[in-house]
Amino acid sequence: MDNTFRRGPLLLLAGRANHPLAAEIGQLLRENPDQVTIRNFSDGEIFVRIDDNARGRDVFIIQPTVAPADTIMELLLLIDAAKRASAARVTAVVPYFGYGRQDRKDQPRVAIGAKLAANLMVAAGADRMIGMDFHQHQIQAFFDIPVDHLYAAPILARYFHDKNLTDLVVVAPDVGSAKMARGFANRLDAALAIIDKRRPGPNMAEVANVVGDVDGRTCLLIDDMVDTGGTLANAVVALKERGATQVFAGATHAVLSGSAVEKLAAAPLEEFVVTNTIHIPEERCFEGLKILSVASLFATAIECVHENRSVSQLFEMAAKAESGWLTD
Ligand code: R5P
Repeated sequence: MDNTFRRGPLLLLAGRANHPLAAEIGQLLRENPDQVTIRNFSDGEIFVRIDDNARGRDVFIIQPTVAPADTIMELLLLIDAAKRASAARVTAVVPYFGYGRQDRKDQPRVAIGAKLAANLMVAAGADRMIGMDFHQHQIQAFFDIPVDHLYAAPILARYFHDKNLTDLVVVAPDVGSAKMARGFANRLDAALAIIDKRRPGPNMAEVANVVGDVDGRTCLLIDDMVDTGGTLANAVVALKERGATQVFAGATHAVLSGSAVEKLAAAPLEEFVVTNTIHIPEERCFEGLKILSVASLFATAIECVHENRSVSQLFEMAAKAESGWLTD
């Protein structure tokens, strides 16, 4: 990455939630994200200390807020430490925004976890936020600070485009993913189908209907996140029962909780393609799982924010220059 136009004192810091991604971003930016000490007291309480001078610097803290909630606390402490060390500006770089599913009061007396998580980051002192594929795009409005919302779609779509899949149908595994799936269908010049999914209970998923023609065709399921894997595993079975010849799947955030790995490894999937917004340890990887890196997107976004250049314009220009087909 061209380092010549860099101005001002950038300070890149990594929490512990996804160190491999932070290291990759650091390598692209030629910055060391490890100038921080983080450890736990014996009761689990987190201690953080920034090991370099932060006074007057433009601080970027990389930390996906994946469960358990300690990752959020660690991010808040890092933001607080940077503020108290007189950083000029603090940007929370959150590749996966946890609690994003709790974005509205859909039952009486429930919390809106996404708003609370956003409030906490702002209260801790974050001046800006960079995120990727929020569960709902409106979550941007939960932050009373500027948010740069990135999309993994260019990376995932390019991967599937290069596979030259014929007679392709992009399938939304539920109505909530329909917009994302439509974007992929446009990018890949494919048809669109939508699954009517029901949730009989929390973390349970059932396919009620498939709207669209999948018989004899190659299907690509697209979702923002895969958690227990129930939605995806059931969708694959439903598509196969309706005559799909091959089923691929792509998702931005691989939460993969509970028995998701076992479920998906056993599913009749050709390939399950995710990004590295959440770290997947080697022992959780399985045959057919492909992990694409979003490091260059985040590195470019950090560089643009640091240089006060437009983030969206830069991605559009890069996409056009690359191929001419990959524009929003
Ligand atoms: C639903 O709203 C999301 O787009 C995902 O389909 C869902 O969160 C995946 O959850 P799970 O893998 O637990 O079925």
